[in-house]
Amino acid sequence: MKRVVSGIRPTGRLHIGHLKGIIENWVKLQEEYETFYFIADIHSYTTNLSTAKSEFYYDIVRDLLAEGINPDKSTLFVQSEISQHSELSTLLSMVTPLGWLQRCPTFKEAISNTNDKEMISLGLISYPVLMTSDVVLYDANFVPVGKDQLPHLELAREIVRRFNRIFGKTFVEPKSLLTKFPLLIGTDNRKMSKSYDNCIYLNENDELLRKKIMSMITDKNKVRRNDPGEPNVCNVFSYHNIFGTVDIEEIEKTCKSGELGCVDCKKNLCNTMSEIIGIHRKKKSRFSNEYVREILEEGRKKASKIAKQKIKIVKENMGMRL
Ligand code: TRP
Repeated sequence: MKRVVSGIRPTGRLHIGHLKGIIENWVKLQEEYETFYFIADIHSYTTNLSTAKSEFYYDIVRDLLAEGINPDKSTLFVQSEISQHSELSTLLSMVTPLGWLQRCPTFKEAISNTNDKEMISLGLISYPVLMTSDVVLYDANFVPVGKDQLPHLELAREIVRRFNRIFGKTFVEPKSLLTKFPLLIGTDNRKMSKSYDNCIYLNENDELLRKKIMSMITDKNKVRRNDPGEPNVCNVFSYHNIFGTVDIEEIEKTCKSGELGCVDCKKNLCNTMSEIIGIHRKKKSRFSNEYVREILEEGRKKASKIAKQKIKIVKENMGMRL
């Protein structure tokens, strides 16, 4: 079976964008591949030094389990608990020209978005090197990522090629598995992100959920209830579409004709979302933190065994004394 490796940073609670963009895909992949999913906690310090919180690790793993990640099929573990991720990252950094990292679009963006020069750390620029190490340590064939992570995967492939050329074939070139799902737009029509405060969280309570949905922007030209609307420019409609409202055609038709007002349309969406979140919450409540602790411990053992063997081969190929 081909191997899939992917990680998620524990920088907060997960939102419905993660559900559609990452988790549902991870669940599907475990049927077809040998899957390794990890909490990328070291990575979370690249942008914010007080961001990883150990309570999020548990919360995220419980979200994964609730959505159907099966610990018998997928190995779940924490990046920082497998020391070989950092070790390999150091070794890979020796074959990574600085220019490759400086040219990386996510790095350039991070620089232009920060006023605090001291936040542009060595760790930030070497983010893609650590990410490379995350996947090649396990000989990942495929890495499911969103579009924003594609440059990192491209770099990973280049680092692997350079390493293999210099030290002999050691690593598998990981291929990206682009998540088909488009990025979910936040309630303010910007990209859904914690820092914009425009997320609907998987643990959202009904009151806040209502408030957030009622504040969503619809077709700006539909001012009055009976004005005809254009569903294709409306984020509320795209949510209806994504979250599987049954009578989507009816919504489209009645929005266009003007029969359906935005307030009613949003109320429908509240019901749909509230049900989805309710079901998620119920499933999640079956998994205790104690259980998560056991799962992560099992995952740690399994990942650690593979990582140790791999690092040995790497060192041997580099000519180090074993
Ligand atoms: N960089 C990824 C993100 O922010 C998280 C991540 C870290 C990752 N290491 C990885 C994803 C390895 C896939 C494979 O989304």
